[in-house]
Amino acid sequence: MKTKAAVLWEYGKPWSVEEVELDAPKAHEVLVRLTASGLCHSDDHVRTGDLPVQLPMVGGHEGAGVVEEVGPEVTGVKPGDHVVLAFVPACGRCKWCATGHSNLCDLGMYLMMGEEIGGGHRVHARDADIGTMCLLGTFSPYTTVHEASVVKIDDDIPLDKAALVGCGVTTGWGSAVYLGETRAGDTVVVVGIGGIGAAALQGARMAGAKNIMAVDPVPWKREMALKLGATHVAESMEAAHGPLTELTRGQMADVTILTVGVALGELIAPLLALTGKNGRAVATAVAPALQTQVTLSLADLTFMQKSLRGGLFGGANPRSDIPKLLDLYRSGQLLLDEMVTTTYKLDEVNQGYDDMLAGKNIRGMIIHEH
Ligand SMILES: NC(=O)c1ccc[n+]([C@@H]2O[C@H](COP(=O)([O-])OP(=O)(O)OC[C@H]3O[C@@H](n4cnc5c(N)ncnc54)[C@H](O)[C@@H]3O)[C@@H](O)[C@H]2O)c1
Ligand SMILES: [Zn+2]
Ligand SMILES: [Zn+2]
Repeated sequence: MKTKAAVLWEYGKPWSVEEVELDAPKAHEVLVRLTASGLCHSDDHVRTGDLPVQLPMVGGHEGAGVVEEVGPEVTGVKPGDHVVLAFVPACGRCKWCATGHSNLCDLGMYLMMGEEIGGGHRVHARDADIGTMCLLGTFSPYTTVHEASVVKIDDDIPLDKAALVGCGVTTGWGSAVYLGETRAGDTVVVVGIGGIGAAALQGARMAGAKNIMAVDPVPWKREMALKLGATHVAESMEAAHGPLTELTRGQMADVTILTVGVALGELIAPLLALTGKNGRAVATAVAPALQTQVTLSLADLTFMQKSLRGGLFGGANPRSDIPKLLDLYRSGQLLLDEMVTTTYKLDEVNQGYDDMLAGKNIRGMIIHEH
C-alpha cells in the first residue's frame, strides 16, 4: 500500500516526509494503523549519526495503534486489537526472554542491522529499500511489524497516551524501579527531565522514595518535575551537590539516574559524586557510539561500593510491564496526560525535534492523520 513516512536519507539532514510503499504483512507480521508516535531523543541520535545505523530509515519507535491486518501464522493478535509497539522485540523463547530479561531478547540483534526480523525490508521509496527505527518506523500512519514487537493492550486506554510506554515511560520508570532498585525511604536523583527523566521521577515516587531530586537546566521543566513526583530540584549536578549533602546528612543518593539528551563520559564523575555509599548509578541516556572515554574515580567506586550500570528499556519486560504501566495509568498513579506537552502532525516532525532540543517539551507527540 502507499502511505507517508518520515525518512532519514543522510546523517545530519532533516527528516523527509514523503510517500512510501509499505508491504503487506508476511508470516508472523502485523499491519498496524498507528494513532500516535512519541518524539524520543533516540531518533535524534540516529539523525546526528551518534548511533550509526543503515540508512535510509523510517524514524519513530514509540507508537500505538490498532491492528489492521495480520499475516499467516500470527497467533497473538487479530484485526481490531489495540496494541503498543515495543522498541525491543521479545521472542519469548531465547535465554533472555526465558529468564525474565526480554528487553535483552536475542531478536534485538536486528535493531541495528537495518533489516526487519527474518531479513529484508518492508518499506520502499525512490527505488531504495528502507529500514525502520527499532524495527517499528512509527513516523508513519501505517507500519508492518513482526508480532514480537507488538503488545496487546486494553481497548479503553487512549492510544495517544499508550504510545509513551512503547519506549520513554517504561524506560524511565524501569530505570528507577528495576535498574536502580529504588526502595522505600531512598533518596533518588534524576538528571535530565525529558520523557525518560519524567518517567524515572514517577518510578521513584511509586517505589516509595523519600527524597527525589530532579536536575535540569530548564526552569519550567523543574516546575513540571515537582508535579510528577520530585521533592527537590536543581539546575545542574554541581548545583545539586550542596542541597543533596544537606538533605541526606552527607550520605548522598541511594540511586542516581542519567537521563540527559546526550550522555557524555564527563558526566559520569559528577553523577557518581551525587551517589552515596552502596549507591546505584544508572546510565540510561544514550552516548555517541564511538565514545569510549569516561571520567570517574575508580578508588571512590571501589571503596564506597558504588555501582554504575547501563540499561535498555529500563530492564523491563514488554509483555508484562506495558500492560502493568497502563493499569497504573488507569488507576491514576502513573501520570501520562501531563507528559505530552505538545502534539504535532507528521509533517511537523522536524519542528517537534527542534522544540525538543530547545527544551520546550517533556514529550512531543505526533498524532497521525487518517
Ligand atoms: N537506554 C534506553 O533504553 C533508552 C531508551 C530511550 C531513550 N534513551 C535515551 O535517554 C535520553 C533521554 O531521552 P529523552 O527523550 O528524555 O530526551 P530529551 O531531550 O527529551 O530530555 C533530555 C533532558 O535533559 C536535559 N539536560 C541536558 N543536559 C543536561 C545536563 N548536563 N544536566 C541536566 N539536565 C540536562 C535537557 O534539558 C532535557 O530536559 C536520550 O539519550 C535517549 O536517547 C535511552
Ligand atoms: Zn526511545
Ligand atoms: Zn527472546
